[in-house]
Amino acid sequence: MTGREPGGGVDGIPAPVRWDAEAFGGPVVVLLDQTRLPREEAEAVCANVPDLVDAVQRLVVRGAPLLGIVGGYGVALAAARGYDVEGAALELARARPTAVNLAWGVERVLGVYRAAAAHGSTGAAAGAALAEARLLHAEDAAASAAMASHGLGLLEGLLPAGGWRLLTHCNTGVLVSGGAGTALGVVRQAHEAGRLRRLWVDETRPLLQGARLTAWEAARSGMPYSVLVDGAAGALFAAGEVDAVLVGADRIAADGSTANKVGTYGLSVLARHHGVPFVVVAPVSTVDFGTADGAGIEVEQRQPSEVTEFGGVRVAPAGAGAFNPAFDVTPPGLIAAIVTEMGVLSPVSHETIDGLRIRSRTG
Ligand code: MRU
Repeated sequence: MTGREPGGGVDGIPAPVRWDAEAFGGPVVVLLDQTRLPREEAEAVCANVPDLVDAVQRLVVRGAPLLGIVGGYGVALAAARGYDVEGAALELARARPTAVNLAWGVERVLGVYRAAAAHGSTGAAAGAALAEARLLHAEDAAASAAMASHGLGLLEGLLPAGGWRLLTHCNTGVLVSGGAGTALGVVRQAHEAGRLRRLWVDETRPLLQGARLTAWEAARSGMPYSVLVDGAAGALFAAGEVDAVLVGADRIAADGSTANKVGTYGLSVLARHHGVPFVVVAPVSTVDFGTADGAGIEVEQRQPSEVTEFGGVRVAPAGAGAFNPAFDVTPPGLIAAIVTEMGVLSPVSHETIDGLRIRSRTG
């Protein structure tokens, strides 16, 4: 089990995850530490599953598709190092609750490991687990490319010719996938096609994935962009400065309800009020066909200190409580379209999601 992962960086943005079996004296999962961006490009080396779980929980590594890839490599790591693979899989799958990709990636690689272990040595099963994790990684890169192409086609049909002003929230680019990402991948494709007039980057309180990560990616790729505080989005819509909203997803329920970074729901309401298309871009691995609707999606609640402190300095009075959900849920009626690697769903409804379920199972 040597060599590196199939994914690579884009526009000088390093790949957010790689497998390495040579440089660190044994198999490890190497992460680009997203908590330190954009100040520093530092790697976090995880040689065991508790370190990987800690990295997921501290958002060293984050974003739904990437969590799926990391979950897969985590199972491969446990197998390669001879740990309790079943126990490791459980810990990894539970590390964060909302992005369904995490448990999906863990289960997919675990299934291959179990099947191989039932018929051969644990060494062979470890090899099979790593091969599956690499395959999952490569498939995510291919899904990014397909979403970018479908998304650009959708925008060309929805928006007038000329330069587009696109608003996005959180970070959905190279840093969350094996390729160019989801919503930001579509933005990148629009930029490469000469259609991007401006990317509006919501700062994305409280952890600033927009200001720190999306702005960093946009700068690296030479996109025209501006960062705004989340509370300024209404004024931007009111000024007629937004042509479309593109966001990712952490989990899409069977009725099309979409959980994404907190603040997304408010953007969907603004978009509806101002007659602006609101588009979700996500791979099929983000669709949870087994959860009926938004009420069934568990929303991660995070530490109050993320809200009451800023950069480690307390900004709210001592003892202040905080409401700090990491995600919110946008109802399907506010979503103009969902772009997946299998094409565009519109309208977004139980029927169209079910059609996707059938197509994804029949290949
Ligand atoms: O808490 P995070 O940073 O993991 O949240 C990420 C998001 O909400 C993204 O928008 C989502 O995972 C889609 S990434 C393609």
